[in-house]
Amino acid sequence: MNARIIAFVTGLFVSSTLLAQTNKSLSTPKIEAQVEADLAKMSIAEKVGQTCQITLDVLLKKDDDGKLIEPVEIDPEKVQEAIVKYGVGSVLNVGWKTLSMEEWNGVMEGVHAPFQDKESKSPVLYGIDAIHGVNYTIGGTLFPQEIGLAATWNPGLAMQFGQATAYETRASGIHWNFSPVLDLGRQPLWSRNFETLGEDPFLVSEMGKAIVCGYQGDGGINSEHVAACMKHFVGYSNPSTGRDRTPAWIPEKYMQELYLPPFKAAVEEGALTVMINSGVVNGIPGHENYELLTETLKNEWGFEGFAVSDWEDFIMLHTVHRTAETLKDGIINAINAGVDMSMVPLAPQYQEYCKLMIEAVNEGSISQERLDDAVRRILRVKYIVGLYEKRMNQAKEYDDFGSEAMHQLALESALESITLLENDGVLPLKKEQKVLITGPTSNNLIYLNGAWTHTWQGDNPNFNTEGRLSVREAIETHVGKENVLFSQGAELYLDEGFEASKLSGRDDFLSKSAQSDVIILCLGEFPSTEKPGDIRSLNLDAAQLELAQMAYASGKPVVLVLLEGRPRIIREIVEDASGIVQAYLPGDFGGEALAQLLYGEENFSGKLPYTYHKYDGQIEFYDHARSVARHKANHFDAFDPQWEFGYGLSYTTFEYSNLTLDKTTIGEGDSVVVTVDVTNTGDREGKEVVQLYISDHFASMTPAVKSLKAFEKVVIGAKDKKSIKFVIAPEDLQFYGKDGKWISEPGTFSVRIETLSADFELK
Ligand code: BGC
Repeated sequence: MNARIIAFVTGLFVSSTLLAQTNKSLSTPKIEAQVEADLAKMSIAEKVGQTCQITLDVLLKKDDDGKLIEPVEIDPEKVQEAIVKYGVGSVLNVGWKTLSMEEWNGVMEGVHAPFQDKESKSPVLYGIDAIHGVNYTIGGTLFPQEIGLAATWNPGLAMQFGQATAYETRASGIHWNFSPVLDLGRQPLWSRNFETLGEDPFLVSEMGKAIVCGYQGDGGINSEHVAACMKHFVGYSNPSTGRDRTPAWIPEKYMQELYLPPFKAAVEEGALTVMINSGVVNGIPGHENYELLTETLKNEWGFEGFAVSDWEDFIMLHTVHRTAETLKDGIINAINAGVDMSMVPLAPQYQEYCKLMIEAVNEGSISQERLDDAVRRILRVKYIVGLYEKRMNQAKEYDDFGSEAMHQLALESALESITLLENDGVLPLKKEQKVLITGPTSNNLIYLNGAWTHTWQGDNPNFNTEGRLSVREAIETHVGKENVLFSQGAELYLDEGFEASKLSGRDDFLSKSAQSDVIILCLGEFPSTEKPGDIRSLNLDAAQLELAQMAYASGKPVVLVLLEGRPRIIREIVEDASGIVQAYLPGDFGGEALAQLLYGEENFSGKLPYTYHKYDGQIEFYDHARSVARHKANHFDAFDPQWEFGYGLSYTTFEYSNLTLDKTTIGEGDSVVVTVDVTNTGDREGKEVVQLYISDHFASMTPAVKSLKAFEKVVIGAKDKKSIKFVIAPEDLQFYGKDGKWISEPGTFSVRIETLSADFELK
C-alpha cells in the first residue's frame, strides 16, 4: 500500500488523496522530446489513426468463402489500407488459433513493413492476451491462470511468471500484454473469476505489482520485457447479475477500499497501459467515466501511460449501453472521458471510426488538446517499449523460449498453487495402490488450462500442447499404467451454450471402482470466459454430484480434485471425501504437479485466494461486518463458509507462538513492529503462508471483522522454527470515512496471526 501523508485534525488522522503519488516512471526527457517532435509533425488524421486499434483478422488473407487461410498470412493490400492510408496505430490478437513462430514472424514483418519502409511515421504496437503464459504461440509455456497464481501467495513467483511470459511474448515479436487482470474476484458467478487474483485487495495488489514488475522489468524495459495492461478499470468483476458485462453497483467506500487499490498499486509500479471496464458501474459505462479515468487515474494518480478500450466498447456505448445516441457520440463521450485508444476492432468499422473521429475533432467536439494528450501517451509507450530502435521480431535470439527452465518455473507455480482442503490421511497416496481415475475433467488438458488457451474459449483439444499431460496421463506416467484404472464417469458439454454434464459409462465405472484401492475423482468446469461463460447457478451440476455419490457408494476412499476457476458449491459431497484438492486451472504442467503432490514427492503450500462458499445463497467474504456473523440465536458464529480465505493444508503441521508487538500504544504516524514464531512440528519440510490481519474494534463506520495487511511465504524445515517480522504502517489502520477522506481513528486494534492475537492502542 502506498504511504499516505497524515495530518492531525481534531482527533482524526486525515490523509489527502489529492497528493500526487510517486510512481516508477519509465519515460525519459529524451523520449518526451521525441514524442513532442513527432506530435508536431502529425496531421489530425495521423493522430486519429494512432488512437485506432484493429484485430489481426482485418489484415489477413482469406479464401473465396471469406475464411482465413492457413498458415495465416498478412495481406499487403489490407496493410496498405489500414496502416498506411488510415495510419492505424495498433493491432491485436491472433485470428482464431495459436500461431507458430513462423506465422508470428510473417505477421510482424507484415505489420511493421510500412514503418520500416518509411510509409508511416509511427510503428504499430501489437497487443495480445498472454494471460497465463504465451497462450497464442505454439510451444509457449503455460502457467496456472491468475487465480492459481494468487493461491501461491508468492509475489516472487508471480514476478518470475511475469518475466517468463514477457520473454516469450517478445520472442513472438509482441511488445504489449493485456495482463494482469486486477479486478477483485468477489462475484463467483462471473465467468472471469479465474482471471482474477482473488477476493482481497491487498493480496491482489501485492501479486499484481509483482506481475507488472515481471512484465516491465525492474530497471526499465529491455528486449525481454513488454508493456503491462491493467484490466479492467474498474468494477467490471462485480456484476450484480453475475453475468458478464452487466451492471455493477459499487458504493464509493467499496470502490475506494476494495476495487481501486490494486490499480493504484500497479500505477505506482509503473504499469504502462490500462484497459477499460466494458460494463457499467453505478449507471455509468466504464468508457464514459470521466471521474475515474481522467480525474482519479490520470490526474490524481499521475498515470503516464494510455487507456485502451475493450473490444468494440466505443460502439457498445451506442448499441448496448444506450448512453450515446449515435456511434459518433460514443466516440466523443469515450475520448472525452479519457480513453486514449479504441479497440474498434473490425473492418469496415475502423474506417468509420477514423472518419467520425476526424469529424469530431474538426468540429471541436473533441479538442485538439485531448487528441494530442491521447496520442502523446500512446507514442510515449511505443518509445518506452523500444519499438523505434529494435528489430521487430527477434525470435531466433530467444533461446529460452519454451525451455526446460521455463517449464520448471511453470511446474513450480502449479505446485505452489494447488491447495489441499481436506485430508483424512488418505494422502499422500502410495504408488502400489491401484487407483481409479475418473470424472469429467480427468482426461483432457483443456480442463487444466481453461479459457485463453490457444483459442479464446480454450475448449478445442486439437490445440493442446504436444507432450503435456492431462491428470490421467500424468498419474499414469508417474506410477505406471499398471497401477491406474480409468473410467470417464461423466462428461461436461454445452447445452444451448450453457455448461451441463451427464453420466457416462456407469457399468464401466462400477466395475473399475470395485477393482480399485482408491478413487481420484476429477470434477470441475468446462473452459469458458466472457459472455459465453455465463452460468446460471454456482452449484456444481447434478451429474457431477451423482458421480461423487457413486464413488462414495463403492466404499473406496475418494480424493476429489477440483479443476475450476471459482468456488463451485460442493457442500453435499464434502463430508464423505477422504481428501479434497483445489487445483484451480493449473496450466500445462498442472497434471504433473498434481501427481507429485498427490503421491507426496512434493508438499502442498497453496492457500485459498477466496472464500470457498458453502451455500449459493450465502456469498460472503472474509472481511465481512460482524453482523454477517450474527446467528439467529444471537451467537456470532453464523459466518459459515466451506473453507475460509487463506486456508490450505500441508503434509506437515505448523504451530504459531510468541506473537509480540514492539509497542502497545502508538501515536500519529507511528508504525508497529510485529513478530511471531512459526514452528514446523511435523517431520517434513513445508512452506507456510504467514498471514497478518488487523481488526479495528470500534469505528465511526462499521469495521470489517479483520483485513489482511501483510503476508509472507516461508520455507521451514522439519522441526525448525522461524521468526517472522512485519511492520504495520499508519496507513494500514485507515478506512474511507463518511466525508470521503481516508482517516484513522483512535482506539484499540488487534493484530491477528493464525489463532494468536495481540492488541495495541492508537492514541
Ligand atoms: C476482453 C479483454 C481482452 C480483449 C482482447 C475482450 O473481450 O474483455 O480482457 O483483453 O478482449 O482480446
